[in-house]
Amino acid sequence: MSATILDGKTVAAAVLDRVRRGAASLLERTGARPGLAVVLVGDNPASEVYVRNKTRRAEECGFASRLVALPASVGRDELLARIGELADDPAVHGMLVQLPLPDHLDAREIQRAVPPDKDVDGFHPLNAGKLLLGDDDGLVPCTPLGVIALLDHYEIPLAGRDVVIVGRSNIVGKPLFHLMLSRHATVTVCHSRTRELAATCARADVLVAAVGVPGLIRGEHVRPGAVVIDVGINAVDDPAQAEDLLAGQPRRLERFRRRGRALVGDVHFGEAREKAGAITPVPGGVGPLTVALLLDNTLRAARRALGVPA
Ligand code: GUN
Repeated sequence: MSATILDGKTVAAAVLDRVRRGAASLLERTGARPGLAVVLVGDNPASEVYVRNKTRRAEECGFASRLVALPASVGRDELLARIGELADDPAVHGMLVQLPLPDHLDAREIQRAVPPDKDVDGFHPLNAGKLLLGDDDGLVPCTPLGVIALLDHYEIPLAGRDVVIVGRSNIVGKPLFHLMLSRHATVTVCHSRTRELAATCARADVLVAAVGVPGLIRGEHVRPGAVVIDVGINAVDDPAQAEDLLAGQPRRLERFRRRGRALVGDVHFGEAREKAGAITPVPGGVGPLTVALLLDNTLRAARRALGVPA
C-alpha cells in the first residue's frame, strides 16, 4: 500500500487566500491593514529564513508588516523597551519574538512582555491557560493549528480516534494535545522517557511526530492505514544518515548527493509511507501551514482590536 500524500502547500494556499480576502475586507471597512511585527534578535540563519518568510507572506496578504532586527548583544532592558513600543502601537495587531533568543536573554520573561491580545504565537501564559480551559477567545500556537487545518481539509475525523503525539514541547505537543482533546480524540503524549514507544505509536489512528529527531518514527511505529503527521524539520548533512533516511526516495537522495544537505522530518518517510493510509511529506507538509495560520491569527487579532466581526 502507498499512502495518500497530505499536501500542506495546497492547504496553506487555501488558508492564505481566505486571509487575503479577510484583510481586504477589513481594509475596506476600517481603512486599516492587519499589522504584524516580528522581532528578530541576532543572526541565526534558520531564524532569518523563517522571519523573512513570515514578513514576505504577510505583505502578500496585504498586511502591514514590520521587522525589528536587533543585534545578538541587545540587552534585556533595550529589548523589553522595543517590545513595549510595539505593544503600545495601535497599528500593530500581532507581534512575536522569534526564537531561539541568545543565552543572556530569558525567553520566558521576553515572551510574557508580549500583550496576550497581540500574542499571535499563542505562547503567553494567558493564552496557554485559555487553550487548557477550552476558552475559544484566546490565540493558539500556529503549528498545532496547522495540523488541525490539514486534517480538517482532508476531512480526517478525530472524534473517538486514538491520537498519539510524540513530543511534549510548549510550541507543538502540549497545545496540540488540547486541540485534539477538544475535538474528542483519545490522546496519548509520548516523550523521551516513554517505554514501548513503537508499540504505543502503533496503536494510533493518527500519529503526530514533533520531537526534532530525524527519522525517529520508522515503519514499525505505524499502524497499517494510520494517518501520519510529521512536524519535524531537521537539517541532515551526514551521508550515512541521509542514505538511511532518504531510502526509497531516489530523487531526494540524488539531490542530497549533489548538495550535501537535506531537510528531513521526524518520520522515516520511505518506511512509513508503505504502511500509512495518509502521510505528510517534509518539506511541504505542516511547514507551510505554520506561517498561514500565523497570518490567520494576526487577522483575528486585528479584527478584535478594530471591533470587526469575522
Ligand atoms: N522558532 C521556531 N518556531 C517558532 C515559532 O513558532 N515562533 C517563534 N516566535 N519562534 C519560533
